Amino acid sequence: MKKMYEGKAKILFDDGVEGTLIQKFKDSATAFNAKKKDEFDGKGVLNRKISELMFGYLEGHGIKTHFVENLDERSDRVRSVEILKLEVVVRNRSAGSFCRRYAAPKNITFTPCLFELYLKEDELDDPQITEDSALALELINKDQLEHVRETTLKINELMKDLFLKIGFILVDYKLEFGKTSDGEIILADEISPDTMRLWDPETLDSYDKDLFREDTGDLLVGYREVLKRLQEQL
Ligand code: TMP
Repeated sequence: MKKMYEGKAKILFDDGVEGTLIQKFKDSATAFNAKKKDEFDGKGVLNRKISELMFGYLEGHGIKTHFVENLDERSDRVRSVEILKLEVVVRNRSAGSFCRRYAAPKNITFTPCLFELYLKEDELDDPQITEDSALALELINKDQLEHVRETTLKINELMKDLFLKIGFILVDYKLEFGKTSDGEIILADEISPDTMRLWDPETLDSYDKDLFREDTGDLLVGYREVLKRLQEQL
C-alpha cells in the first residue's frame, strides 16, 4: 500500500482499488495547529466509528459523502476526491476561536447559524477567508460555493436534530468537501469529536477535543459517551 498523505489525525493510503483510498484514523490528538500534541490509546477507533455513524446518518438523508465501506477498526475505504483547500466551519453557539477573535462571550446562540470559510494552509494557521477572496483565489467556483453552502445548511439541521435527541448541544464543527473525478462536490474527511464541539445542555461540559485543548477532563471518556449515545440512537 502506498501512503498518499499523512495528516495530524489520519493517513490516506492507495491500495490500487480504482477511484478509492483507505482512510486510517490515528490516536494522536493535536490542538492549536499542533503546538499541543498527545496520544490517546483508542481515539482513532472511536473517531472512525463515530464518523461512520455520522456519514451513514447523513447519507440516509440524501447527503453525498466519500464513505464507501468499513475495512477494520481504524480504516475505511473512501472515494478518492480532490479536497478543496477550504474548511467550512458552522457555528450554532459562540466558542473557541470566535470568542478569541472578537472578544465575544461564550454561548451566544446564532440563529441562523454562522457559515464560515477558512483557508486550509497549516503554514498560515488556517486563516479565515471571505467568500469573495475564496472565489478570487479560485479555491472554489460560484456554483460549487452555492452547493457547499446549501449542503452545509441541510447538514446543520440534520446534525442539530440528531445531537439534540441524544442530549448534546451541537456548538460548532468543521466540514471538508472534495471534488470527485466527475466534478461532483461531496462531503469528505471525518465528522468526530475532534472536529465538533458538543456540550451538555445544563452544565455546558464538553464531550469533544476541548477536553484536551483546555485540559478539562479525559478526552476518551467524552468520546466514548458520544459513541454510546449515537449507537443507541442510530
Ligand atoms: P475554532 O473555534 O477553533 O475555529 O473551531 C471551530 C470548530 O472547528 C470546532 O468544532 C473545532 C473544529 N476545528 C477542526 O476540526 N479543525 C481545526 O483545525 C480547527 C481550528 C477547528
